[in-house]
Amino acid sequence: MFDRTSRIIKDSGRLSFEHVPEKLIHREGQMRQLEMLFRPMAVDGVPCTALLSGGVGTGKTATAKRFCEDTARHCAKAGGAIDHIMVNCRVRSAEYGVLLHLVRHFDKGFPDRGFSAAEMLRSFRTHVEKGARPMIVVLDEADMLLKSGSRDLVYQLMRMNEELRNASVSMMLIAQRPVAELLDEASMSTFRRANNVRFERYTAAELAGIIEARAQEALHPGTLGDDEVALLAEIAAQYGDARFAIELIERSASIAETGDAGRITADDIRSANAMIYSDVSENKLRDLDLNRKLTLLAIARALKSDPYVSMTAAKKTYGIVCEEYGQTARKHTQFWTYVQDMERAGILSTEVRNEPDGGRVTHISVPNIPPRELAKKLEYLLETPQSADEQVW
Ligand SMILES: Nc1ncnc2c1ncn2[C@@H]1O[C@H](COP(=O)(O)OP(=O)(O)O)[C@@H](O)[C@H]1O
Ligand SMILES: [Mg+2]
Repeated sequence: MFDRTSRIIKDSGRLSFEHVPEKLIHREGQMRQLEMLFRPMAVDGVPCTALLSGGVGTGKTATAKRFCEDTARHCAKAGGAIDHIMVNCRVRSAEYGVLLHLVRHFDKGFPDRGFSAAEMLRSFRTHVEKGARPMIVVLDEADMLLKSGSRDLVYQLMRMNEELRNASVSMMLIAQRPVAELLDEASMSTFRRANNVRFERYTAAELAGIIEARAQEALHPGTLGDDEVALLAEIAAQYGDARFAIELIERSASIAETGDAGRITADDIRSANAMIYSDVSENKLRDLDLNRKLTLLAIARALKSDPYVSMTAAKKTYGIVCEEYGQTARKHTQFWTYVQDMERAGILSTEVRNEPDGGRVTHISVPNIPPRELAKKLEYLLETPQSADEQVW
């Protein structure tokens, strides 16, 4: 059962979280900022610092990794090698764990107990001095370290530069909040506010670019269409999170592998999203009143398995649905209010698009659940007699 060749996924390694693409689109600004901040190190070996901050999945770790690797490559070519260590601070007893990681970069067999922090720092300094080259220490998820009261480590690492002769220690701190708030006065004197590199949440358009680029690397050609890219991007844009976008591609692709379409369909994407965040719970649907249930059922039916349906097409189906359930169809403005209510409740989303003829059309999509599933649930709820406490609707 596992020997069937995969029709959708070309290279699953490219969808893993560890994979860092050669080029990080929409992070050119941050890369340039880092280049500027670390120029004194690359050119003259002078210690430099940077603070990277932003929400989950905004590309902080990937950008830091890409920057260090590119800089190391560039410096090696220019005849002056540099070294770098990336360490994640989300470890138990953060300070000790970080120190152990730093020492083991040079000495793989360094024992994990029996040495004080001061001894480990000294050992690290000796290795750096012996290496006789600039070193970049990247402390990822530094909030963890700083919150646990280990600010001293950052200070100690920076102070090392006063004693180093043929080498230097530069630092990059990565955190969700601007680290300046977490650092003490002494450390802040080396981490100036101007060294802060911000990572804003990705917009839907930026995510679409990232998704497209990743699909090209990881999927077989022609398995992810433009509309499906837009749907993925729109879902991930709720969080502005590239990690979520890539997880969605991976799940949708896995679901598509088991289907017959030979490509990723909008339904595969919705199922994947439902698996990750089962947002449209039955309770949420049950809480909708009769008019909103009918509106949503109309949208679900009109969508079929397409990514989007126009407001006009949805309204037409709404008329038919109301007739079926013996209800009077509400006017357009009322219908629009229902749609907006449900968008606020996170059940559907709308987008105004410019048409080729110059007009503007509202498109409705249901990101979290395949429309057929949604229609089935709603039909069930509409046909089941409501309990007394729900009749307030
Ligand atoms: N601009 C981008 N281009 C391509 N992939 C990206 C980009 N930004 C983030 N990613 C990918 O998204 C995932 C999450 O990014 P990451 O750097 O771990 O985010 P953070 O550290 O801010 O939480 C990673 O797999 C990363 O490769
Ligand atoms: Mg990270």
